[in-house]
Amino acid sequence: LVDKAIATGETMKSEDLLFSYKGISYPATVCSPEQFKALEAFEARSDDVILAGYPKSGTNWVGQIITDLVTTCAKNDGDETNNLNDELDEFPYLEVGDAEKYQRMKKLPSRRIIFTHLMPHNIPESIFKNKTKILLLLRNPKDVATSYYHFSNGLSPLPSYETWDEFFTAFMTGKMPWGFYFDYIFEWNKHIDDENIMTITYEELKENRAMGVKKIAEFFELSLTEEELQGVVDRSSFQAMKENSEKTHGAFGNVLFRKGGVSDWKNLFNEDQNQEMDKKFEEYLAGTKLGAKLNY
Ligand code: A3P
Repeated sequence: LVDKAIATGETMKSEDLLFSYKGISYPATVCSPEQFKALEAFEARSDDVILAGYPKSGTNWVGQIITDLVTTCAKNDGDETNNLNDELDEFPYLEVGDAEKYQRMKKLPSRRIIFTHLMPHNIPESIFKNKTKILLLLRNPKDVATSYYHFSNGLSPLPSYETWDEFFTAFMTGKMPWGFYFDYIFEWNKHIDDENIMTITYEELKENRAMGVKKIAEFFELSLTEEELQGVVDRSSFQAMKENSEKTHGAFGNVLFRKGGVSDWKNLFNEDQNQEMDKKFEEYLAGTKLGAKLNY
């Protein structure tokens, strides 16, 4: 789907590229209002493996770790097909695809791997009702904005921006596909004490990938040997993923695996923008549990 979007993408600037559903805008090249309607009836299983995160928080990175953990476990159990990507030949993103996707997903064997950028109020109710485990991925908003800017201006199905300043205004006023970053974290903060939710930050994973991988495996109750865990760690380095990106992501890979670091925002933000974001953080997240986890 994304390849198709890229193929037709060239200069993606106009507002027509986005549609709005329940007050949040989404890229029309990869999802549709009909599909969002169908999504409401999505039936979660209690053993689904869900990764949630605002765009550009490292979803593909943690997604690969999760997929690697689940498929390694499945292989140990003699199952070679336990992979949403292989089965559906489409993105494992819950909200990306077509209206029939959720019917097809019913036929998938457990454990299904699901990624989503949706705010909690747009997440299908059954996920919360069945207490399906959700790993919530967080990343510093300044690096998220930086990554989102470069991504939007690369080969992506999203509108592009003439200047960083133009992007910054859109980001800070919440005029972004998948909504306003600060609303996103604020809304998820309401679920922080839910027993089925665990958080991980991009920064902690960057600091100690081995510990992060272990933490993720334990949370989803995926039992691997130390050697197998190390394999997952090795395969999820930035370099390894970038080198393999042609195979895993096609043309999209060059845009996606950009720098893979912490604090690149310092190359884009001016002092006013830095302070404006600090103020927004204070306003929305100061004193919240998720705010504290962000290591802001
Ligand atoms: P940068 O643009 O800052 O480089 P998402 O997958 O949610 O779209 O996030 C993309 C960001 O995650 C990009 O950040 C990308 O480089 C980074 N990323 C992808 N794989 C990574 C890895 N193995 N290690 C560190 N960062 C990674």
